[in-house]
Amino acid sequence: MLQINARTRVTDLMKGPPGLMAALTSTGIFRDGDDPDVTIGELCWNFGFNPGILVMVLEAANIPEERPPLDIAPYRAMPLSGLVDHIEQVHHAYLRRELPRLTSLAAAVAAEQAGDGRLGEVNETVSRLARELDAHLLHEEEALFPMARQLGAGTAIAPTRCGDSVGGPIACMETEHEDATRALRKLRELTADYAMPDGAGAPFGELMVALAAFDRDLREHMFKEDEALFPRALEAQRLQRLAATAS
Ligand SMILES: [Fe+2]
Ligand SMILES: [Fe+2]
Repeated sequence: MLQINARTRVTDLMKGPPGLMAALTSTGIFRDGDDPDVTIGELCWNFGFNPGILVMVLEAANIPEERPPLDIAPYRAMPLSGLVDHIEQVHHAYLRRELPRLTSLAAAVAAEQAGDGRLGEVNETVSRLARELDAHLLHEEEALFPMARQLGAGTAIAPTRCGDSVGGPIACMETEHEDATRALRKLRELTADYAMPDGAGAPFGELMVALAAFDRDLREHMFKEDEALFPRALEAQRLQRLAATAS
């Protein structure tokens, strides 16, 4: 993984995960067309920006891309409301079914092998991620998905507690996807990619199989949202606003 410090150049960030350049440009101290040979330290010096804070922001975005082996093209071609229905009916339904089973299984295995600190950490990570995902699904279903359906139907967005633009909820959802990606990576590290050591008991095996399936489903779920739903909703909103100003 790319090591980031004040001597790191923008050209190095460009070769890293795409989130790095997005994080840098969001600070406003580097724009497309600026000299990429500059170091982070020089940028901060020129703009009076705290280099410690910038390194922290970049470290948070320094996540290797973990694209699931999934052809995204059919999901980009679906009608917007059909894509929302698909995500709800397949992935949200799966999580609502699976999260209670997964959390009790992780708790039972951790209690059974209380001396194994890694299983305690697996249990804590699963339980925290399940709570965060419960809130995440609700947020999508109550704010973002109705907006996407309205955009798909060509009707104006009815304001919600998140405003009347899909950009706000999408920015929140993307941050939560990054948190979930980090939690999945931690689970894979703690379990050596959900490996089953010789002599492991049945509940442990059941937990590893369930976690591997959960990991695969959640990565596909977030990939469909990040790469198909979010850009398509933003584009539909842009076109709707253009049409509104032209008329
Ligand atoms: Fe979702
Ligand atoms: Fe999501």
